[in-house]
Amino acid sequence: MNITIVGTGYVGLVTGTTLAELGNSVFCVDIDDKKVEAMKLGKVPIYEPNLEEMFLRNIQAQRLFFTTNLKEALDKSDVIYLALPTPPGEDGSADLSYILKVANDIGEMMTSYKVIVNKSTVPVGTADKVHATISAKTTVEFDVVSNPEFLREGFAVEDSMNPSRVVIGCSSEKAKDFMSKIYQPFTNTGVPIIFMDEKSSELTKYASNSFLAVKITFMNEIANYCEKVGADVDKVRLGMGSDDRIGHRFLFPGIGYGGSCFPKDVKALIKSGKQEGFNFEILEATEKVNTSQKVILISEIEKYFDGNLQGKKIALWGLAFKANTDDIREASSLDNIKILLEKGAKIVAYDAIAEENIRKILGDTISYAPDMYSALEDADCLLIATEWSEFKNPNFKLMAEKLTNKVIFDGRNMFDLETVENAGFFYKSIGRKTLEKL
Ligand SMILES: NC(=O)c1ccc[n+]([C@@H]2O[C@H](COP(=O)([O-])OP(=O)(O)OC[C@H]3O[C@@H](n4cnc5c(N)ncnc54)[C@H](O)[C@@H]3O)[C@@H](O)[C@H]2O)c1
Repeated sequence: MNITIVGTGYVGLVTGTTLAELGNSVFCVDIDDKKVEAMKLGKVPIYEPNLEEMFLRNIQAQRLFFTTNLKEALDKSDVIYLALPTPPGEDGSADLSYILKVANDIGEMMTSYKVIVNKSTVPVGTADKVHATISAKTTVEFDVVSNPEFLREGFAVEDSMNPSRVVIGCSSEKAKDFMSKIYQPFTNTGVPIIFMDEKSSELTKYASNSFLAVKITFMNEIANYCEKVGADVDKVRLGMGSDDRIGHRFLFPGIGYGGSCFPKDVKALIKSGKQEGFNFEILEATEKVNTSQKVILISEIEKYFDGNLQGKKIALWGLAFKANTDDIREASSLDNIKILLEKGAKIVAYDAIAEENIRKILGDTISYAPDMYSALEDADCLLIATEWSEFKNPNFKLMAEKLTNKVIFDGRNMFDLETVENAGFFYKSIGRKTLEKL
């Protein structure tokens, strides 16, 4: 099948590459001409494990193309995926301007039947809005389908090639046939394809992300309570997670969730509820708890340095909002950096993958180290904000030599307490006892 993907970010590029891998001809459209030029030259504009190989293979096989020309792509395709941003507007609701602009353009340009597939995360009722926008511009037949994306950044290729389910919101039999054909390689291997109406499909995505945000936040509150009563959250989460109604995943406490999805999707669902006179009280609490959780270690750092961070040099390991991605949107690192700088501290950060993106925002307001140990040179303490694998089993002896003080504030619970205790560090993590310096 010939398919167009409009928007080649984390979702669009991975979806496009996956659909090309499945044998389709895929035309990826983006308004960012630099990005398009780079992709034409075989450069992947984002970091995603295993993406580059598949991307290059499909360019080579002439199944994956890039253009800034929507009309050209549209004319060649039956199915048009929208993988466009839906950032939070000023009031927290999802900004649909990117989607509706492209819907308008499609309406003006299309000359034959198209299936418009919305992969962006959008509020209930967006399929109707897209339909109305296109209808206002054309009399050519088309259908609008909701097909939310559940991939995880850092595992995007793996998730796209092995989805847990495919959700399709669709009320046209013709469009349903197209979607069934596209996903046949998955359904053939037993992946469930769940057809429903457009509104239920749109809500499925928000409900899934919000549920996970609540799960993480619930565990963070349990962790904070563990510290009050002297319980160990590692034991509690293992005990809880062994119940298969609960499961082990998303029970790891830390300095809050970030990224381009959970924060904005929780906000957008709260806002959508309000527009219907409905209060998502559990989500409001989740958002509030997460906002303070992201910077929960700041007061601990201040306490350690007797309330004065002026001139303190803080080494920061990890800038990405989570491991295995270069995405820094709503990363906890940013919240911590902002407050630490305001309090007069200096930051030396290390993140091999996300540094470039942070530089675009923070420039030289912080320093950057070429490796994790250089960041520690003469630093007064270490703060860990991302759970990169390379931090998991560090050389504590070398760390002790480099740091001025043997002090670690660990926002991702990277180390087991015994190891750090034996190495003689002050160690403050989340939901576990604080190890005082020997
Ligand atoms: N990132 C994720 O992990 C993830 C997972 C599931 C769902 N989603 C949802 O998918 C959607 C896209 O997210 P993303 O992270 O891929 O966004 P992104 O910001 O990484 O990519 C969006 C792309 O769209 C392009 N674009 C903007 N306007 C355009 C236009 N008029 N024509 C063509 N291209 C245009 C941008 O240049 C950019 O390359 C969002 O709704 C998001 O909530 C994201």
